[in-house]
Amino acid sequence: MKRRRIAENVYALGAVDWSRRLFDALIPLPDGTSYNVYLVQGSEKVALLDTVDPPMTDVLLAQLADVPRVDYLISHHAEQDHSGGIPAVLERYPEAKLLVSTKAKSILADLLPIPAERIATVDDGEELSLGGKTLKFVYLPWVHWPETMVTHLREDNILFTCDLFGSHLATSDLYADEERVYEPAKRYYAEIMMPFRKLIARHLEKVKDINPAVIAPSHGPIYKRPQFIIDAYAEWVSAPPKNSVVLPYISMHNSTAMLVDRLTTALVERGVVVEQFNLAVTDIGKLAVALVDAGTIVVGTPTVLGGPHPVALFAANLAAALNPKLRFATVIGSYGWGGKSVEKIADAIARSDIEILDPVLCRGLPGDEDLAAIDRLADTIATKHREMGFA
Ligand code: FEO
Repeated sequence: MKRRRIAENVYALGAVDWSRRLFDALIPLPDGTSYNVYLVQGSEKVALLDTVDPPMTDVLLAQLADVPRVDYLISHHAEQDHSGGIPAVLERYPEAKLLVSTKAKSILADLLPIPAERIATVDDGEELSLGGKTLKFVYLPWVHWPETMVTHLREDNILFTCDLFGSHLATSDLYADEERVYEPAKRYYAEIMMPFRKLIARHLEKVKDINPAVIAPSHGPIYKRPQFIIDAYAEWVSAPPKNSVVLPYISMHNSTAMLVDRLTTALVERGVVVEQFNLAVTDIGKLAVALVDAGTIVVGTPTVLGGPHPVALFAANLAAALNPKLRFATVIGSYGWGGKSVEKIADAIARSDIEILDPVLCRGLPGDEDLAAIDRLADTIATKHREMGFA
């Protein structure tokens, strides 16, 4: 696509990666993604904000064919999906200076072949006049690397946020269809931003103070109504957990699956929402999304070689790394002759504000006593959620 105007002398460029299906060799991208770049042309100077993932560099260079001069290349975030095109852009524009946060300078030097003399740092709050267009740099660290910053274009009141408020959504829409973008934006938050939710809560206050008319992230469409995504983030970050249980499980010979089904039925009877994920087939992005709001996680696993099934341990590790608002956790499953499934899953999930509830393990096929224990676990979870006031 050619560059598109979003305000006078302000353009959206970049590449839509329609067919990408995996990010970081970990995160599924069912809707593809995009790497957005922005061009701001002042009466005296021209700035380009971010670049694209390395394989898409030619797309960006083609969009810049009729841009004779770039004075400043601004890198909000050193991760290669935005910084990968920097060497090529600097080569195309030998007069351009690369402007980065103080922390980004060494990170970029570690990741990309960029001559040190081409890099200059900007301070938090520093302003740069392009002539009728003023860029203010605001440090918002840890969204989701330590060097991240955003840029406020004062005259047009556009906030360029790079990863923050992004969505992995390949679309030809320049602006967000709110109904369509909600799920990809939530998935993006869950996978990328949730581990840093406490810092993001503080950053949201800074964004609210800026009160931008437009939020232009570097993945997915632009928000013409920033309140939509600011409100969504506020809820994901700070609202109390919901009255829901996330139930990732794996079953080898159906015994664990029987416990999972019994628990699902028992919880639903007690008014608790259940999101079940069979880890043999699930999209881990959907599991991440469910974790944004859940009050409790119950991991279902058989015992294999003395411990939990490796896939169940992966899910527990993932849940811990994503740092969701969970307040309760436990394990259910089946074993043959013993093992340490509970200890290993509980160790993975342990966090000072997560209470580990009594597990339910059965030897082989679940019997009546085991199913009764599952019902008691459902009672406990429903009671705990009620006491905590989970909606
Ligand atoms: Fe979109 Fe953290 O890079």
